[in-house]
Amino acid sequence: EKGGYDHFMLKEIHEQPTAIKDTYRGRMLPDEGLIRMAGVDDNLERIANAKRILIVACGTSWHAGLVAEYIFEELARIPVEVEYASEFRYRNPIISEKDVIIAISQSGETADTMAAIKLAKEKGAFAFGVCNVVGSSISRETHAGAYTHAGPEIGVASTKAFTTQITVLTLMALKLAKHNGTISNTDFMTYLQEMERIPAKIEKALEGDEHIKMIADIYKDARNCLYLGRGFNFPVALEGALKLKEISYIHAEGYPAAEMKHGPIALIDEEMPVVVIATKKGHYEKVVSNIQEIKSRSGKIIAIVTEGDEEVRDLADHVIEVPETLEPLTPLLTTIPLQLLSYHIAVLLGKNVDQPRNLAKSVTVE
Ligand code: M6R
Repeated sequence: EKGGYDHFMLKEIHEQPTAIKDTYRGRMLPDEGLIRMAGVDDNLERIANAKRILIVACGTSWHAGLVAEYIFEELARIPVEVEYASEFRYRNPIISEKDVIIAISQSGETADTMAAIKLAKEKGAFAFGVCNVVGSSISRETHAGAYTHAGPEIGVASTKAFTTQITVLTLMALKLAKHNGTISNTDFMTYLQEMERIPAKIEKALEGDEHIKMIADIYKDARNCLYLGRGFNFPVALEGALKLKEISYIHAEGYPAAEMKHGPIALIDEEMPVVVIATKKGHYEKVVSNIQEIKSRSGKIIAIVTEGDEEVRDLADHVIEVPETLEPLTPLLTTIPLQLLSYHIAVLLGKNVDQPRNLAKSVTVE
């Protein structure tokens, strides 16, 4: 049942190229220059004219929501807010009939996300669900939606659900951008063609596995770990830290790289591994100077870089390469080594990777 892998988590990490293909298949039609998504098409005016998109979710799905915020605003130029469902539901949020609320949930059963959707609906917002489990409560409670086609995710640590959520939300953003005229036809086509290359590029990123395992072995006894990223990759830093926390029980924090100097830099010494996402473009030079700041305080740097990068290689203790892609799509690649890193650390520490202590796959109580 684990398809020859030691754990479901590892199997699911490796399923990502297929899961992403399954998610865009039939929706993305590059030859016709079209994205077809029934849930969006049937409500196109309502969604495209939203004054604001509110995204509610928990955990990893909330991180996918943060990535989507950057992508929607960049491509479709619609203002987006991303909220923890648990906070949103209890703070008497201001919601209008012109708002579109998107609930992201792998299980479709998360209690707080469900409550947030009910509340927004009561206030007249249009509710859209991005769920993985077909027929789940959230998929039924929303007015429309688009499923991720990740297949069953068994490991408690979410992996393929995250990348397929980003895939669905990117398609949605592109579709709205095209409709609203905020993207040129050429750019639209470039995105579609590049999206089709993502599965193969993930395969390439997965080839770094042995190297990542070696890095895991060096840092497995760390007590703390910092994850830094900027822009589209800031939420990836949060996600990397969450993965490490939940399966290896090592304290980890994700930060926007530039925030480091507002506090966390005080933590850095030779004992502290810092994982930095430093792919090309995306504030690259600024991230490089953040890396220099860490280095001058003797922090250990594990950098995720674009294939062929030389500058960071000279500074970092370890570099992990991912293929180049369009900047808004980089989270689909930079996430992969972070999943593998936390997986290998947890295995080396003898932890129960698929069923970490104190955690359940779906959180149906608040
Ligand atoms: O099923 P959902 O996507 O609504 O679940 C949300 C979170 O409970 C979930 O992502 C959790 O944070 C995972 N264990 C993360 O790996």
